[in-house]
Amino acid sequence: MKTLKLEITKENISLAARIINESGVVAMPTETVYGLAASALDESAVKKVFEAKGRPQDNPLIVHISDMDMLYPLISCLPDKAKLCAEKFWPGPFTMVLPKTDLIPSSVSAGLDTVAVRMPSNEVARDFIRACNLPIAAPSANISGLPSPTTAEHVVRDMDGKIDAVLMAGDCEVGLESTVVTFTTNPPKLLRPGGVTAEQLREILPDLEIDKAVLESAEAGKPVASPGMKYKHYSPSCDVTMLIGSSEEYTKYLNSHNEDGLCALCFEEDIENLDCPYVCYGKMSDGKTQAAELFEALRLLDDKGFRKCFAHAPNLSGVGLAVYNRLIRAAAFKVKELKSKVVIGLTGPTGSGKTTLCDIAKKYDFEIINADLVVREVYKKDLAIKTLCDAFGEEILSGGQIDRKKLAALAFQSKESTDLLNNTALPIICDEIKDIISRSERDYILLDAPTLFESGLDKNCDFIISVISNEEIRKSRIMARDNMSEDDANMRLAASKSDEFFISRSTHIIFNNGSKKEFENEANSVILNIINNKGE
Ligand code: TXA
Ligand code: MG
Repeated sequence: MKTLKLEITKENISLAARIINESGVVAMPTETVYGLAASALDESAVKKVFEAKGRPQDNPLIVHISDMDMLYPLISCLPDKAKLCAEKFWPGPFTMVLPKTDLIPSSVSAGLDTVAVRMPSNEVARDFIRACNLPIAAPSANISGLPSPTTAEHVVRDMDGKIDAVLMAGDCEVGLESTVVTFTTNPPKLLRPGGVTAEQLREILPDLEIDKAVLESAEAGKPVASPGMKYKHYSPSCDVTMLIGSSEEYTKYLNSHNEDGLCALCFEEDIENLDCPYVCYGKMSDGKTQAAELFEALRLLDDKGFRKCFAHAPNLSGVGLAVYNRLIRAAAFKVKELKSKVVIGLTGPTGSGKTTLCDIAKKYDFEIINADLVVREVYKKDLAIKTLCDAFGEEILSGGQIDRKKLAALAFQSKESTDLLNNTALPIICDEIKDIISRSERDYILLDAPTLFESGLDKNCDFIISVISNEEIRKSRIMARDNMSEDDANMRLAASKSDEFFISRSTHIIFNNGSKKEFENEANSVILNIINNKGE
């Protein structure tokens, strides 16, 4: 079949109306999305619509009218609340489900005894419906399952060769399908959020209910109030996961999960902090821009061949509810909440008892990052080996691996060589630690780092606990733990920073000069204090 692409002229609107009156199918613009129009009173025309879309037969269509006179023959009653809503929201992106009359064939209502009706505000749509002089059944003009079309080009891509004509108008203003409310229940129920927001509806319908399926997946096998909500919807081929969190949490997560074929579906505000490819859908602070751009953005993901996408979830107020409702379906209900993690630095002079505190934190499901172990791992990697050999020569190697003793001997010879070590190895180690932090799935992270302040990692911590104990106690601990002579232990202690250095830079200080039990109690209460009050 050849599909006519009709520019918007009076003659073409008349031509399109003639096609409808001869049981044909025409794609028409509306303020929400493009619709696939057929006479709502003509079973054979409606059948063609289902075929062109590949739509399941049990999903009913919305009937579009151009004025109130067209409404009354289609419905058996108009509750007062519905009448008020019609006055307030029509013409516009608002659909009412009402008890139907026999005029509506069962193929339109998919066997239900109700009909969904809407009066669009788009001028071309209204002129066209008026010219048809018939109520017009029109689902969104996409192939079933794909994102709804918001431009004439989207329609042509999905429908060329399958329908009689497309009215080639401009982009759809709202960008998401109409709000659907059923008045067959008392109180009325929001079945599908859209351009008319729940907040606007509640001004007229204070007792409005929101159907569970708006935000959750319908349970398999259970009847749904709006059949359309049970189908896979708005789905690009690209595998979408929705992430809930602030711009900072979202961009951090993306940057630490960057991989080939991954794309961010993000807000304008996120772009400057993202290191990976992105498709943008509006402003974080403006649901209307998100609604207008979402479907185009979902189609772009496939056009650009992305395999996987992390979408930044909108907030749920205003039109955001509708955006969320479509996006969660595009994501096949895969949602992840990016809770902000709390990072606690743990430091203090050597031998003060940090390990005991790590053991306690483990019981609270903390992720423990031992900086010293990270250094060991980093030194095994090619990047560190190459960087350090470039700086200190190959004499720091034993059997191709970095020999920490040899490196220390060279690096602590002079201030210059210590600086050299700090400028070369430290950035690699710090990057690795930051990476472990951002990849962690835990809520709390304890970073055990003796040189927390010197490395600058203190800036990545929300809290800093220093464990301090007096020198004599530390000396005997070091001697016992590391099997050291008193002289060596004294040298170690002398190299350590003063208590004051730690105390002045920490948010929490634990003195460990008494019994093990006392220390454990104190450590427990500091950790609980951070968890319960986040330290305040
Ligand atoms: O903005 C819109 O509403 C667009 C434009 C073209 O007007 N149309 C649209 O139609 O989105 P469609 O077919 O893609 O979605 C119709 C939705 C489906 O979720 C369907 O299940 C629901 O409305 N619906 C239709 N009749 C219903 C009824 N009698 N009871 C409950 N839900 C109904
Ligand atoms: Mg649809």
